[in-house]
Amino acid sequence: MPKVLINPKSSDIETGNAFVQTVELRENGVLLGRAIWAAPSDLSQGVAQIVDLTVPDDRRRNGFGGQLILAVVEQAQIYFKSRGAKLRRLWFSVEQKSQVNARAFLMKHNFHHTASISELLIKQDALIYTRAFD
Ligand SMILES: CC(C)(COP(=O)(O)OP(=O)(O)OC[C@H]1O[C@@H](n2cnc3c(N)ncnc32)[C@H](O)[C@@H]1OP(=O)(O)O)[C@@H](O)C(=O)NCCC(=O)NCCS
Repeated sequence: MPKVLINPKSSDIETGNAFVQTVELRENGVLLGRAIWAAPSDLSQGVAQIVDLTVPDDRRRNGFGGQLILAVVEQAQIYFKSRGAKLRRLWFSVEQKSQVNARAFLMKHNFHHTASISELLIKQDALIYTRAFD
């Protein structure tokens, strides 16, 4: 059974600072996936970002990415609640052309394409996928 490891714990960070947390899935020490998410110092919008989420090539399609999403959602909800706020939206930016798999993955996990940004990436749009919690 894979273990979820988090670093740092939300209780280790002083209120009023931005927060970045790494969430790893490991089994017997072997990395099965890693996510990094971030919250700004002002939590009043209830918005957090998944900055990165990767499952090693040879471990994909085993549900580990899905387990990481669950762990990130849980950690983000704990973090916002512990500071008197509520998580409203979680968002992730993916590359339109080179991350087609990621788009299918995010849709399976209740993220929806809510915006496209042009002139940010090279020769493709950045697509913003958002999951709502209200
Ligand atoms: C996207 C990524 C994190 C998915 O991780 P994973 O552990 O393979 O995901 P899961 O096994 O939990 O897959 C859940 C669902 O996502 C979708 N999915 C995942 N990979 C897919 C693929 N290659 N093609 C189509 N759908 C895919 C499917 O709906 C899948 O369900 P199914 O296996 O029952 O069909 C992984 O492919 C990855 O690390 N890609 C490179 C980095 C990246 O693009 N990161 C952005 C993440 S949003």
